Amino acid sequence: MNSRSSDLTQRPEWLALASHRDAGSGGDLATLFAGDDQRAARFSLEHEGLLLDYSKNRVTDESLALLVALARAVDLPERIEALFAGGRVNPSEDRPALHTALRMPQGAALEVDGVEIGRQVHGVLDRLAAFCERVRSGEWTGHSGRRIRHVINIGIGGSDLGPRMATRALGPYTDPNLGVRFLANIDADDFRACVAGLDPAETLFVVCSKTFTTEETLANARAARAWLLEALGDDAAVAKHFVAATANPAAASEFGIDPEQCFEFWDWVGGRYSLASACGLSLMLAAGPENFREMLAGMHAMDVHFRSAPLEANMPVALGLLGVWYTSFFGADTHCIAPYSEALAELPAYLQQLEMESNGKGVGADGAEIHHATGPIVWGQSGTRGQHAFFQLLHQGPRLVPCDFIGFARGHAPVADHQDRLMAHCFAQSEALAFGHAGPPEKACPGNRPSNTLLAPKLTPRVLGQLLALYEHKVFVQAVVWGVNPFDQWGVELGKNLATRIRGEIESGAAASPGGDSSTRQLIQRYLALRGEGE
Ligand code: F6P
Repeated sequence: MNSRSSDLTQRPEWLALASHRDAGSGGDLATLFAGDDQRAARFSLEHEGLLLDYSKNRVTDESLALLVALARAVDLPERIEALFAGGRVNPSEDRPALHTALRMPQGAALEVDGVEIGRQVHGVLDRLAAFCERVRSGEWTGHSGRRIRHVINIGIGGSDLGPRMATRALGPYTDPNLGVRFLANIDADDFRACVAGLDPAETLFVVCSKTFTTEETLANARAARAWLLEALGDDAAVAKHFVAATANPAAASEFGIDPEQCFEFWDWVGGRYSLASACGLSLMLAAGPENFREMLAGMHAMDVHFRSAPLEANMPVALGLLGVWYTSFFGADTHCIAPYSEALAELPAYLQQLEMESNGKGVGADGAEIHHATGPIVWGQSGTRGQHAFFQLLHQGPRLVPCDFIGFARGHAPVADHQDRLMAHCFAQSEALAFGHAGPPEKACPGNRPSNTLLAPKLTPRVLGQLLALYEHKVFVQAVVWGVNPFDQWGVELGKNLATRIRGEIESGAAASPGGDSSTRQLIQRYLALRGEGE
């Protein structure tokens, strides 16, 4: 049984890690490497060709053993099992988090609350695949009989970041005759830019929303419907140009979406964990069902590894515990993600939601207030672009910023020696961070800055799946250690409610809220005045 989250820092396993740190035992990277010429091999893990080299971390065998002891003390193995078995691992919403069931192979059985989940999942996957084939082959046409050439995914948060990131990541696998765009923000300029140059008769909108109540998504969907109907002039066109991915089919149907074209997912899929569900429809349209299934297979392979590998040789556990080491014992507030692949340029934003919406909590899963740091601020950019922007701070700033480097041995269509140059930079950065160099103060790099490197042969759908499941499970490991519920997000509700009140005030033309503060009142008044001024 877990004790209350507030007790975490009093556990003997935690205190042992604190003493280990105080004794400087995690040590200095240059010394650790000098003393062990097998260090890289000993501090690496491999899963189906994906290498995780975590040797450039401030850890010894003893540090890792102490971290694993902490993981055992908080019942990590039992919690992993509960996650996969459909336990109610989301206590504040009293439900399981079964994203791993979304990528179970055909025929795998999992019954939760009397429902055979595998059959449900594959039923929807088959419907999705059939629909995608019809659109991609041209059999499914728009209202006026024209072939669909453009898809716009309308969604936000988990209903945008996953498909947006993965569609870009798998660009070389996508159909060049079917352009997929993503509309998330409630911003007229973004809406205009998204539909610019598109012919409504050839455009399909995928309204992606788990709840089908999200303000931004519904406002954009209504604007899209108006844009479509203005051109096609017949309400019946909606059924041919709008489809939905949602856990609320009734609301989708009320919007006018044909139930036949409504692809369901379930309340046990968290938004930020939903790429493998119907939420991935835009990705499947772009890359095709086969590639989508390959991604699911990669995710499943990582799921199996996470569930079955011993904690000491478990990739998500290693990544998770190393993050705990820096956040909890070295005061690292942030974690940088640096993919050396422009195709993964959206990965930092995706991981931001995955990690920060999951573990950015100050109350434990048991309802108790938390007195230790939880999920770090996740940020980053593709390399080498980040090198010319913020790496200065990583090398010489006073903050400790652990980094994940992600790279590939091969690109999809070689250009000169670009890949060698790109990866030379990737490896150079982790070496420079770890070992630094001496010199006059302004030129010296202190080194001893930790990083992980993930290296795979190529960014295929399967490898993408492995990577995404790796990070999902890393987040779960950290949630278990820090004692938070990674599957709720109550903190986003207040802002939504206030926006509703403020919109009312804007509509009525006055910042009227008696309880409102003078700053917000001033901003609304100034906005109303400026709005009336025109160009
Ligand atoms: O506002 C946060 C959030 O609830 C995310 O967790 C979710 O991914 C996003 O909004 C979108 O929600 P929906 O898919 O229900 O539109």
